Amino acid sequence: NQDQDLAGKRVLVTAGPTCESIDPIRYITNHSSGKMGYSIAEAAQKRGATVVLVSGPTHIEPPLNVEVIQIKSALEMYEAVLRQYENQDMVIKAAAVGDYRPALKADQKIKKSDDELVIQMVKNPDILLELGKRKKQQVLVGFAAETMNMLSYAKGKLEKKNLDLIVANNVTENGAGFGGDTNIVYLINRSGKTIKIEKSSKLEIAHQILNEAKTYL
Ligand code: PMT
Repeated sequence: NQDQDLAGKRVLVTAGPTCESIDPIRYITNHSSGKMGYSIAEAAQKRGATVVLVSGPTHIEPPLNVEVIQIKSALEMYEAVLRQYENQDMVIKAAAVGDYRPALKADQKIKKSDDELVIQMVKNPDILLELGKRKKQQVLVGFAAETMNMLSYAKGKLEKKNLDLIVANNVTENGAGFGGDTNIVYLINRSGKTIKIEKSSKLEIAHQILNEAKTYL
């Protein structure tokens, strides 16, 4: 795995959660630690690629020799990714992007009252869907974080978003998904070929994803 098989290739990876502000104090986010995406960035860099990592807020160290672009919200991730997209040979979207954001961000702290608080949410753009529409030479790899019907939902996303490969994980399974150092995934390609990767470190899974994705370069 460690040879320079991605030398001369440009790889963009997204990682971590997005944070959607409610007011200057509060936000809505998810459980992504960034580990899966950072492992992919590390693996691609070690294999010789020039790597850009677009990352939501995390508590982990970015890999060495990788350009890191820090963002907070899904809209910021959308802008950063689209700005880089044209030059990339491969894009791997491991980030857990918020599907919705509060319709309004209050300028001041929302004060507690005796009433219930209702926060209206509006849809964020689907970054990966947009990349699929604008796809030219880029190999496009998405993730699917599911809690049920994993393979059928993942195949639906593969087709709808015009991907070459999708990495499906059942985030309710022990040893898989958010936070930990391991994952359990299925790699599904365009022709429906499905490979199960038993519980392995996120770094090992990163290498397997790259092995499969590079066949589309
Ligand atoms: O960060 P870790 O703690 O290591 O956890 C890893 C992980 C569970 C976050 C990772 O393995 C994973 O599953 N990432 C994808 C999470 C997700 O948002 O899945 P989704 O099924 O909701 O989205 C499908 C794909 O569309 C993803 O590639 C996502 O990046 C992309 N997407 C989703 C919504 C949106 N508005 N824009 C997008 O680009």
